[in-house]
Amino acid sequence: MVCMTTATPGTAPRILAAARRQPVDRAPVWMMRQAGRYLPEYRAVREKADFLTMCRTPALAAEVTVQPVDILGVDAAILFSDILVPLEAMGFEVAFLDKGPRIANPVRALADLDRVRVADAATELPFVRKAVEEVCDRLAGRVPVIGFAGAPFTLACYAIDGGGSKDWSRTRRFLAEHPAAFAQLLDRMADTVASSLADQVRGGARMVQVFDSWGGILDEATWRAVALPPIRKIVRALKQVGVPVTLYVGMSPHLVEAMVDSGADMLSLDWRCDLPSILERHGDRVALQGNIDPCLLYAAPERIRQRVRALAEAVAGRPGHVWNLGHGLLPDMPVAHVRAFVEATRDPMGNGDQA
Ligand code: CP3
Repeated sequence: MVCMTTATPGTAPRILAAARRQPVDRAPVWMMRQAGRYLPEYRAVREKADFLTMCRTPALAAEVTVQPVDILGVDAAILFSDILVPLEAMGFEVAFLDKGPRIANPVRALADLDRVRVADAATELPFVRKAVEEVCDRLAGRVPVIGFAGAPFTLACYAIDGGGSKDWSRTRRFLAEHPAAFAQLLDRMADTVASSLADQVRGGARMVQVFDSWGGILDEATWRAVALPPIRKIVRALKQVGVPVTLYVGMSPHLVEAMVDSGADMLSLDWRCDLPSILERHGDRVALQGNIDPCLLYAAPERIRQRVRALAEAVAGRPGHVWNLGHGLLPDMPVAHVRAFVEATRDPMGNGDQA
C-alpha cells in the first residue's frame, strides 16, 4: 500500500521538501520521542499493554504514533517502535524493564557471533510494516510517516554491553580486542537495518531516520573507521528505495564533518552542535534538523519562545531546516510546554502568520 501525503494539494509535504533543501512556507516541526509517556493519552494506552506488546501490536502502535499529530499538530508522525525491536529477530532476547532495556544473551566472546543472524524484515518483523500501514490509514495523508532504525554501532552497544551503560566499556573493549569480528557484527546489523527501513517504506513511510545515539562516545577517527561504513551502506540502500535519509548522532559536535560524509540527506543535530554555523558550512550538501536542548522544555513557555526565536533568527529562513529537539522528550515534561515549543516554531517571530 502506498500512502500519499501533501500539505497543500499538488505540493510536497513540507518536511519532505525541507529534507531535500527545497523552499517551504515554514520550517516543519516534529520531536524525537513525541509518542511517549509525557502524553496522558499515551499512558492510557500503555496501561493496557507492556512496551514490547505495544510495538508488536499494529493497532496499538498506530494509535500512539498518531496521537502527537492529533494533539500537537506536528508535521510528521514517527512510527512508534524501538531501535531494539529488530535485535530480537537477529537472535537476541530483549526485555524492557523499569530501568531500561536489557539483553539477556549479549555478545561477549567471539563464539557468540555465531548466533547473530541477519533478519529479513518482511518475514520476521511483519508487525512493523503493518503498523506503518495502519498509521497511514489513520493519517489519511495529513502528514508523512517517518520510519526509523538504530545505527549499527548503537545497536552493537546494546548487543554487547547488554543494556544501557555510562561508558559502554564492554563495547569499546570488544572493539579493541576483536576489530574484525566487531566489523562483521556491524555489517549484519547494517543488512538488518536496511531490510527493516526498506520494509517500512514499502508500508508507506516517506522518509527514514537512523539513530546513532551513542556514536559520540567514539573519537572521530574511530567513528569514521568503524561506525560510518555500515551507515553508508544503509544510506546507499535507502537512496535506491528513493526516500530521504536522516542521520542522528548523539554527543556529536566532533563528528559533524564525518556525518556529512555519510551521504545522508539530513543531519539531526544534538544540542551541543552550533546549528547555524553548520548550516553555513554544509547547507549546500545536507539539511539540518534540531536542535533545541530537550531540557529547555522544563523552562517557562516565554523562555522557550525566546530560544526558538533566537534560533530562527540565526537560521534566517535558509532552506533545509527542520525544527526538532537535540534528543528525545522526557516522560515528565509538561505537555503545555511541549505545545509552546511546537507553536513557537510555527510563528517564531510572532508575526501571527501561522501556517
Ligand atoms: O516517538 C518516537 O520518537 C518514536 C518511538 C521511539 C522509541 N524509541 C519509543 C520508546 C524511538 C524513535 C526510539 C528510539 C530509541 N530507543 C533510541 C534512539 C533514540 C534515542 O533516544 O537516543 C534508543 C537509544 C532506544 C533504546 C531505548 N528504548 C531506551 C534506552 C529506552 C529506555 C528509556 C526510556 O525512555 O524509557 C527505551 C524505551 C522506550 N522507547 C520508550 C518509548 C516510548 C519508553 C517505554 C515505555 O513506555 O515504558
